[in-house]
Amino acid sequence: MKKFKDYFDSVPSLETDRFLLVPFSREDMDEYFEILRDDRVQKYLGGGVPLFDQEPKITNWLNNINDRLLKRKLVFTWCVKSKTNGKVIGRIDLGGFVKQTMAEIAYHYAYESWGKGTASEVAARVTDFGLNELGLRRIQGVVHVENRPSMRVLEKNGYLREGILHHYPFGREFHDVIMLAIVKRSDIDETSGNSALPTKEE
Ligand SMILES: CC(C)(COP(=O)(O)OP(=O)(O)OC[C@H]1O[C@@H](n2cnc3c(N)ncnc32)[C@H](O)[C@@H]1OP(=O)(O)O)[C@@H](O)C(=O)NCCC(=O)NCCS
Repeated sequence: MKKFKDYFDSVPSLETDRFLLVPFSREDMDEYFEILRDDRVQKYLGGGVPLFDQEPKITNWLNNINDRLLKRKLVFTWCVKSKTNGKVIGRIDLGGFVKQTMAEIAYHYAYESWGKGTASEVAARVTDFGLNELGLRRIQGVVHVENRPSMRVLEKNGYLREGILHHYPFGREFHDVIMLAIVKRSDIDETSGNSALPTKEE
């Protein structure tokens, strides 16, 4: 059976009924930058996704997400594309891994695609990948207190609200945020000695 560490050779391609989740390539970037140029998309990202539409920043970013950060087992970054026309619709990340058992989910989509169930459908696939393929026990999402649609996306996928975190570092700013999480408990998680957690060698 594949282990956590075996997933980080390349960003794994995933799919849902309507979307493909694939590694970003140079050809996707102009469409992606159009999405980032929209203030409505940026509003609740805490200034965390600045536009980087110049070289060498583009190449550096692609190298980071598809190689450097991946090899260090830090994050998966997917480009979300429509199966119908191949258009870049948005981005979803699963990263910030802690002890190979916990991660954070984050996403943003083109304004034109909002309200059609896109984010919910894609978050469902990434949550399933995290819990059932990577073997995570907890995936969390940190959402700006005013970002109701994003809270709905996670709640519809089984994430529960755990509370408010005040003045929390969020993107490149500080905000009051809601912590939501989905957990997958296992009998061995609560035995003494934390035997469910990986050893350093793993
Ligand atoms: C938040 C975001 C990802 C949602 O994407 P989406 O594809 O429109 O989401 P979905 O269509 O799957 O679901 C949105 C849900 O929010 C609900 N919703 C929309 N506006 C709402 C509002 N003002 N108040 C409460 N719920 C709202 C929708 O009704 C839907 O829930 P439902 O299916 O129960 O009706 C998208 O708006 C986005 O990319 N925003 C900018 C970036 C961002 O905020 N990312 C999240 C950071 S934590």
